[in-house]
Amino acid sequence: PTIRLFNFTISEIQAAPDGILRPLLVINGQFPGPLVRVNRGDRVLVNVTNQLSNGTALHWHGLYQNGTNWMDGTVGVTQCPIPPGTSFLYNFTVESQYGTYWYHSHYSSQYTDGIVGPLIVHAPEEATTRESYDFDQVILLQDWYHDLSAALMPGYLASGNENTEPVPDNGLIQGTNYFNCSLYANDSGYTCQENSTRAVFAVTQGKRYRLRLINTGAFTEFDFSIDNHTLSVVEADSTLVQPVAVTRLPIHVAQRYSVIVYTNQTSTNYWMRAQMITDCFSDDNPVLNPDVQALITYTNTTSEPTDSVDWSTALDLVCKDLSPSMLTPAVVEIAPSPNNAFRIDVSFQIGAYALDRAYINSTTWTAAKDPTLNQAVAGLKADNSTFNALGLSSAFDKASQFVISIPEYQVVDLLINSLDEGAHPFHLHGHQFWIMASGTGDFDWNSYARLNTTNPMRRDTLTIDAYGWTLIRFRADNPGLWALHCHISWHMEAGLLMQFQGRTDLMSHWTIPSDVLALCST
Ligand code: C2O
Repeated sequence: PTIRLFNFTISEIQAAPDGILRPLLVINGQFPGPLVRVNRGDRVLVNVTNQLSNGTALHWHGLYQNGTNWMDGTVGVTQCPIPPGTSFLYNFTVESQYGTYWYHSHYSSQYTDGIVGPLIVHAPEEATTRESYDFDQVILLQDWYHDLSAALMPGYLASGNENTEPVPDNGLIQGTNYFNCSLYANDSGYTCQENSTRAVFAVTQGKRYRLRLINTGAFTEFDFSIDNHTLSVVEADSTLVQPVAVTRLPIHVAQRYSVIVYTNQTSTNYWMRAQMITDCFSDDNPVLNPDVQALITYTNTTSEPTDSVDWSTALDLVCKDLSPSMLTPAVVEIAPSPNNAFRIDVSFQIGAYALDRAYINSTTWTAAKDPTLNQAVAGLKADNSTFNALGLSSAFDKASQFVISIPEYQVVDLLINSLDEGAHPFHLHGHQFWIMASGTGDFDWNSYARLNTTNPMRRDTLTIDAYGWTLIRFRADNPGLWALHCHISWHMEAGLLMQFQGRTDLMSHWTIPSDVLALCST
């Protein structure tokens, strides 16, 4: 295969993405990180040099890593952190998939401080979609904090605060935004440089732009729109979909959408908007700048548009919000029948129990010091009675590691049932899943036999509504340990992560590469 080599040096600098100076974690001095763009079938080598004073690890969000589970980059599951002052080579082949992905640190909440970037995979199957646009543009959206996540985390994890996630101070489009310095008092402790501006996207009239939207944030779902322009949705996560025209779409943390925008307007400048959905934000700490904007300019001038569109009266646009249920994959697949069904309950156990951690069933995750993958492979090899069927030692800590093992190839149904009053963006590593059904209240198992199996939506990150449930189905065909977790940084650190162990039959033959194991010996 073609080899694509990237050298990433990760370091900490002082920078002001929105005008407020703070420590920022960057890749090759860049924030957001460099674009990784490859063809399906390519072998990707990313040599990561860690110049931080902490460990780090990079996860390739949405890639299957079939046969290379140890390259999944998930601290506590598939690897130990890359120690400060050392290098590690990620080395994997992108097989059988294409579309819009991203990469980010998967060590605690570290990605929230800057280690994020886009990852695009091309394939010949895109040809038809490719004809529907002239330009291809990646757009990263994210909420933004003026403090390091490590400084915010202890307050959040302190007793009684599980319902008060840190509220972002601003939002960024393409890593930049304006911030009004006068919102901070002089003695706030923040240095405001007042020199940051909104992102500007220059366009040519009469062209079609594919915008690949990626929410690389920590906490916030955005409503995305462009004044006076229709968005034709053609991809969700990495699944091409039958085009749906909308005026606004919700995009939760870690989700991706491609929209095609036709520049058919006559005026000069329009706002691109990413409005924070603030329902779940704590009232004690109102967000300073919930309406995040960038500029679309037809003329390369950067004067700001004066009209702001009220979506209820927008000029000759039929206002329509995307609801994820409108999406149908462009390439038809029939969901196979399940061999097995599991139910998990997601909760913060607020109220009666007033506990401070987040639970999946009765487990609250903390990263295992010895990654569960390493434990399982060693145990399967040792083949003696001190290990259970997962390969995990009998001393394995079930209070912090919830692992469902699928020993051989199976099709698995998973009912994710949320007992929490907030929406959660759940991501499954190493797989795409079908969204078979969703709702609120209790799932009615009487309806289980009547699920629509003809071409349900497939994706890798979905929003579970407040007090809602979603039934997902996936082929457990990928050997290794795969995280399923809420992608909100704060929630994952509070414990909302579980793991699937797939194809144990194949794992027992594995030898984890020595450079991966060596990360745990320092
Ligand atoms: Cu975007 Cu567990 O990852």
